[in-house]
Amino acid sequence: MSVRIVSTRPFDDQKPGTSGLRKKVKVFQKANYLENFVQSTFDAIGDFSGQTLVLGGDGRFYNREAIQTILKMAAANGFGRVLVGQGGILSTPAASHVIRKNKAYGGLILSASHNPAGPDEDFGIKYNIGNGGPAPEGVTEAIFARTTEISEYKVLEASNIPLDSVGSFKLGDMQVEVIDSVHDYAELMKSLFDFAAIRKLLAGGFRIKFDAMHAVTGPYATRILVGLLGAPVDSVMNCVPKEDFGGGHPDPNLTYAHELVDVMYADDAPEFGAASDGDGDRNMILGNHFFVTPSDSLAILAANAKAAPGYRGGIAGIARSMPTSAAADRVAAAMGLSCYETPTGWKFFGNLMDDGRVTLCGEESFGTGSNHVREKDGLWAVLFWLNILAVRQTSVAAIVHEHWKEFGRNYYSRHDYEGVDSAAAEQVLQNVRDQFATLPGQMLAGREVASCDDFAYTDPVDSSVSRNQGVRVLFKDGSRIIFRLSGTGTSGATIRIYLESYEADASKHDLDAQDALAAMITAAGEISRLRKLTGRDAPTVIT
Ligand code: G1P
Ligand code: ZN
Repeated sequence: MSVRIVSTRPFDDQKPGTSGLRKKVKVFQKANYLENFVQSTFDAIGDFSGQTLVLGGDGRFYNREAIQTILKMAAANGFGRVLVGQGGILSTPAASHVIRKNKAYGGLILSASHNPAGPDEDFGIKYNIGNGGPAPEGVTEAIFARTTEISEYKVLEASNIPLDSVGSFKLGDMQVEVIDSVHDYAELMKSLFDFAAIRKLLAGGFRIKFDAMHAVTGPYATRILVGLLGAPVDSVMNCVPKEDFGGGHPDPNLTYAHELVDVMYADDAPEFGAASDGDGDRNMILGNHFFVTPSDSLAILAANAKAAPGYRGGIAGIARSMPTSAAADRVAAAMGLSCYETPTGWKFFGNLMDDGRVTLCGEESFGTGSNHVREKDGLWAVLFWLNILAVRQTSVAAIVHEHWKEFGRNYYSRHDYEGVDSAAAEQVLQNVRDQFATLPGQMLAGREVASCDDFAYTDPVDSSVSRNQGVRVLFKDGSRIIFRLSGTGTSGATIRIYLESYEADASKHDLDAQDALAAMITAAGEISRLRKLTGRDAPTVIT
């Protein structure tokens, strides 16, 4: 087997976004496109000779092909060993765990998360560092810089490795271990949660429904919920991963997870429902006829953390992304914990967890997790909820209502305008920026504006600064309107408007969030002149 050096030319569109490089499959299929990015990554991440790389993906179309290419490139570039998930499958949190457990140098995760999959849809690749978390900006910038000047890549001339059963292979001097995709992750979950209590809850007739949305969590949910916890087989749905995710959009929210929503709002709905996304890092939690916002979920997990054995010793602190509601801040204040507000994207939590400052982290975008790995973790959140339900012996809705009673309710919603013209989207944010000087002191939606800014974050651990992370209109009463452009899309621009208002009075906790936020929604449209600029009169997705 010999190493072939292939000459290539740079592509000008390989800048990683919020979560790695995401493009249409057709783009990744261009000659040398994937190879350029992988070689640029290898060139940018330092000396890994003889070290271990973890490799796996969400099973979407092009996953298997990409894995074979990456294996041969890893061998040619001097990795000592690659751990690859069986069938090429590793959920994002499982990959993070495998990196940590095996003290790997890093990992490559192949996923475009919840974006649809198939020959005409999306593919993605992301590099995670040795702590198991997404590469920080310094690393992704170095990778990007390398993509702009790359002139050759290295690949081993070898045949494909069989991925479908666990085994050990040689690829040149490199060892390839095809590992069970679920085993290590399941062991980790057993160490954090009271499996006996959850098993007892389920055996007592507490009915659950988990929707894997034809994506990566199918094997994980089946093994853990059905196999280890004894849930009836029909407690899980859409659990065989498909290369096109069954033609769906595996994003666990009320719009895209409608199949589960229908089950949970039916007359004979189970007590608990949950869904995860394409690569298994997101979660949606539902009760019987009840939706838990991700922001509330983070706050509730924090307030009830002691129910789970893995967190019984207490939690160090909580971090949330800036647009996530301040519900968790109230819990942190009551528990005397420190609370951090970071830019959007899980990568900002890594330093805080590594430095022991926080245990729990969350984003409004259906992401919750803890320092057990360095990614958000969908099934972890599901098991955490089940553990709390097993201890508290009450319903999801009752837990949430009691929480609001104690801490107040942060009414919250996010409105997305997808596929908008990029220049128009920029202008929507600029229109708000142009009023930064005049808005403070004005009344908007019946509230006084306190201040406006472009959110900037200084990492307290490494002092790195991230600017322009969202345009904020902050009100005196703690309400907020935030405008941001998505950094994960693959075509056009997506405007996200985040709306939040706080209500302490328990007699006013039963409003629909859209009704409670109606005046704020109107105000957001007016100050940004969104309708005029984009021609849209309604969001594409409301969460
Ligand atoms: C979105 C979410 C963000 C999340 C990211 C990756 O990014 O808003 O919270 O970390 O996906 O799952 P965005 O498209 O807003 O840049
Ligand atoms: Zn995801």
